[in-house]
Amino acid sequence: MLRFLVLTSLAAIVLAEPQPRYLEDRLERVVGGEVASPNSWPWQISLQYLSGSSYYHTCGGTLIEKDWVMTAAHCVDSTRTWRVVIGEHDLYTNSGREQIKSVSQVYIHPKWNRYSVASGYDIALLKLSSEATLNSYVQLGALPPSGQILPNNSYCYITGWGRTSTGGPISDELKQAYLPSVDHQTCSSSSWWGSTVKTTMVCAGGGEDSGCNGDSGGPLNCQVNGKYYVHGIASFVSSYGCNTIRKPTVFTRVSAYIDWIDSTMY
Ligand SMILES: *[C@@H]1O[C@H](CO)[C@@H](O)[C@H](O)[C@H]1NC(C)=O
Repeated sequence: MLRFLVLTSLAAIVLAEPQPRYLEDRLERVVGGEVASPNSWPWQISLQYLSGSSYYHTCGGTLIEKDWVMTAAHCVDSTRTWRVVIGEHDLYTNSGREQIKSVSQVYIHPKWNRYSVASGYDIALLKLSSEATLNSYVQLGALPPSGQILPNNSYCYITGWGRTSTGGPISDELKQAYLPSVDHQTCSSSSWWGSTVKTTMVCAGGGEDSGCNGDSGGPLNCQVNGKYYVHGIASFVSSYGCNTIRKPTVFTRVSAYIDWIDSTMY
């Protein structure tokens, strides 16, 4: 059985290797890596929930249309009031570049099962209440062609608001970490993730000097022919931590869900 951690306590994560766990915002954001130059990943969004009279960052996501955001199902499978901040860099400083949108509808993949993240389908789409204005700080993330598979060791970055070391201080600023992809054959071998990893997932990291994971729901940005495409949605990591050797961060493989994305949006 796989551990569902969004609502469980901090103590729970030290248990149970090799069960995967989510990239819970408070526990495990980008470790290693560096602060991104402001608005250099202009499709990155901050997903926030209302508690009391304030909103709190909980997950990352990708702006894929002016009024659509793609994130992980496990980020939004509880009933909350959500908002999306686009054009964000420092969560606690207003730069004037931010666009704040409420979420009018949440579409979770119908096959998502919150008790079985290893089954896959960790994808959701959020319809925004109004369209974002595209400019040099806010752009749409490009999706890969349906079915496209990255070769081993493709050039990818994970992005998210995160810690500079495990348990270290949380960065207010968006971070990026180089995280080369690992092909399915390697990632599903027994000394890596084994059968936990499905063909509908993408692995990245897990090497000797790997960077680390970002927020759940956030993008794995991979360069193909000189352009970045969002190939993954951050889904889960090893309970030993995100930079455990041969336990790369696991992402929903976006190219496996293009038909579902298109039929939900159009
Ligand atoms: C893929 O890359 C990883 C990390 O560099 C390496 O350990 C693995 O052997 C490679 N797999 C194949 C099939 O070449």
